[in-house]
Amino acid sequence: MTAGAEFSPIGVIRSGIKDQDQAPKQGISEGLEATIEILPQWHEALEGLEPGRWLWVIYHFHQAGPPKLKVHPRHDPTRPLTGVFNTRSPKRPNPLALSLVRLEALADGVLTVRGLEALDGTPVIDLKPYSGKLDQPVDDDAWT
Ligand SMILES: C[S@@+](CC[C@H](N)C(=O)[O-])C[C@H]1O[C@@H](n2cnc3c(N)ncnc32)[C@H](O)[C@@H]1O
Repeated sequence: MTAGAEFSPIGVIRSGIKDQDQAPKQGISEGLEATIEILPQWHEALEGLEPGRWLWVIYHFHQAGPPKLKVHPRHDPTRPLTGVFNTRSPKRPNPLALSLVRLEALADGVLTVRGLEALDGTPVIDLKPYSGKLDQPVDDDAWT
């Protein structure tokens, strides 16, 4: 097994959200607008992305603090504790987040997106196009 992995951010999220309690739990429900500033050395890698496309944004929960094995879902103490891998909590061993966003505009390496719930200044690790075919479970029949 590989001992460790290092990732360098490809850009940064500008959302205006300053603290964790102010952020929506899942931005896709609220359609908040944010921008993602991509570092100049990766601008060419944005070629082909068009407004209207849906993208997965993988980002670093850089303010998550120490991981927990169990958490209350949605930070709600009335909900029973459950394993952190059974939740979307930031308090994970490898604090990576995954959000589905719609690309609204792209100019000069800056993506305007709708659907993010990340804090202002959050580092972005990767972008991938959403695929209606690939990003859903297959029928059980497909494997028989
Ligand atoms: C429940 S997580 C969901 C994130 C992502 N959509 C996912 O499912 O992986 C969203 C919460 O993470 C917190 N958060 C956002 N950006 C963060 C950051 N950079 N560091 C730590 N916590 C963050 C905010 O409290 C926000 O409400």
